[in-house]
Amino acid sequence: MKNGEVNIRYRILDEQELNEADHELVEAAKAATHTSFSPYSHFSVGAALRLANGETLQGSNQENAAYTTGICAERCTIFYANAHYPDSPVTAMAIAARQADGAFTPTPVSPCGACRQVLSEAEHRFGQAFRVLLYGGGKVYEFASAADLLPFQFTADSL
Ligand code: THU
Repeated sequence: MKNGEVNIRYRILDEQELNEADHELVEAAKAATHTSFSPYSHFSVGAALRLANGETLQGSNQENAAYTTGICAERCTIFYANAHYPDSPVTAMAIAARQADGAFTPTPVSPCGACRQVLSEAEHRFGQAFRVLLYGGGKVYEFASAADLLPFQFTADSL
């Protein structure tokens, strides 16, 4: 028998330490929380991504009375980007969320498993990794690649 181990590297930054472009992207994710339609969970998630063509796009979680038909902010934003700019790779994505009291989460928000899978596909699709910035409590966790959030991922090679 052998033991395996997975190490995930990420940077923990104070919001103030972000460079101008990343600061703008995090602010865009925060702003996008205000377009969330979340009357059921009262959890407003916003995402913003930058494309290689320079566009910045925003999205948010969209809920439905038939709960499972709603969609998370991350998938909303990635699918929107791919539908409008199918040839432009994502270069960075930021995510933020506000709780029922309207305050941002006290710790950086963690994308759900399904969103991690979709973010990873967006990397494979263009053969290019992109950075992921998770905001909360004035801090940002920065991952070099969406793949870092999804070890042992299922890919086209798994089929
Ligand atoms: N949600 C997201 O938008 N992104 C995530 O990564 C986690 C969860 C949404 C889904 C649902 O509308 C609400 O947050 C509560 O789960």
